[in-house]
Amino acid sequence: MKKALINGITGQDGAYLAEFLLKKDYEVHGIIRRASMFNTQRIDHLYRDPHDPNARLFLHYGDLSDGTGLRRILEAVQPDEIYNLGAQSHVKVSFDQPEYTADVVGTGTLRLFEAVRDHLKNSKSDIRLYQAGSSEMFGSAAPPQLETTAFEPRSPYAISKVAGYWFARNYREAYDMFIANGILFNHESPLRGETFVTRKITRAVGRIKLGLQDKLFLGNLDAKRDWGFAGDYVEVMWKMLQHSEPDDFVVATGEAHSVREFLEAAFIHVGLDFKKYVEIDQRYFRPTEVDHLLGDPSKAAEKLSWKPKVSFQGLVAMMVDHDMEQAEREKLLVDAGHKVGQEGVANG
Ligand code: NAP
Ligand code: GDD
Repeated sequence: MKKALINGITGQDGAYLAEFLLKKDYEVHGIIRRASMFNTQRIDHLYRDPHDPNARLFLHYGDLSDGTGLRRILEAVQPDEIYNLGAQSHVKVSFDQPEYTADVVGTGTLRLFEAVRDHLKNSKSDIRLYQAGSSEMFGSAAPPQLETTAFEPRSPYAISKVAGYWFARNYREAYDMFIANGILFNHESPLRGETFVTRKITRAVGRIKLGLQDKLFLGNLDAKRDWGFAGDYVEVMWKMLQHSEPDDFVVATGEAHSVREFLEAAFIHVGLDFKKYVEIDQRYFRPTEVDHLLGDPSKAAEKLSWKPKVSFQGLVAMMVDHDMEQAEREKLLVDAGHKVGQEGVANG
């Protein structure tokens, strides 16, 4: 049985990837951060008590800021594959916390690679790594963007991801380590964090439709993104590690839409006109914006036989339908006299 170690298993992609690998009969180990409240909601449905002889998902406390801890986890787990998905992944937040973002996203990646490098020397085992790069690295480079497009990053988050990308390239060349760089364009789902724009919109659609919320405050509606479905994208992470050699791959749908188009499609799905509910708030603008991301996934299609299955309209419908159900549950609580907070909406 192959063993995979997922750093960032509690995030959107980590949850989909864990499910995907369990279905492929992997033993899955995940790194979680200590928090004052439970933070494993996205993977609770996959978890079994470790005393259960059939348990194949195991969790370990760790953090990208703690290299010693990462080394101990490597020794304990002895993984065949490592997926580095851990990150402070919010672009706007990276302007508020640039040092922290650089430490976790840039230096944290280096800490993990260093730990693996030493582990390989001592154990003589074979480990393949996936490094979560981002289309944000392209920044202001003209679309369409592909593997040969030069990076022009426009945020502390993107700059830190570029560092992670180059650490991967350097460790691949210098130490012959198998590290694949995935350059993934935006991917969304019902598990998407509530402060990213798609989920912020679809949650608001459900709540507005049921009278739980009056307005939705957003920033720049003109930015264009190449939005795909996270469930499709975790498959290609795995494919990169099954490939004959470590390489860099752009993962995208090849279709871009503006935030305004996503907004319109989401409100229309429940029969509402977004213009009646949306207001612009300067606090959601970034000091430097990435205007147009549109990926060319030809290399992944050709070398990994991968293509996305869920369309833009399918993605919008999936997310709105999910959040309508969530709003219905919330309304039941409100009607029964419970107070329900708007967690996550404030800083998105
Ligand atoms: P996400 O939902 O924000 O999940 C991030 C994960 O990283 C969470 O499990 C989080 O733990 C963990 N994490 C945060 N700080 C950490 C630290 N200091 N040490 C260890 N783990 C830490 O992000 P995602 O959407 O799943 O994305 C996965 C990866 O792909 C990220 O690296 C992201 O930057 C990158 N990416 C995402 C997209 C996209 O569109 N989704 C596109 C390109 C690249 P907590 O749950 O405890 O916060
Ligand atoms: N979050 C947010 N909130 N974004 C808004 C809002 C708002 O109220 N209003 C407009 N936007 C615009 C942002 O300015 C940006 O142009 C676009 O919506 C998408 O923002 P996000 O959903 O926050 O995603 P992102 O593109 O900045 O970053 C995501 O994708 C990257 C890949 O390109 C994240 O998942 C990153 O981790 C990932 O690397």
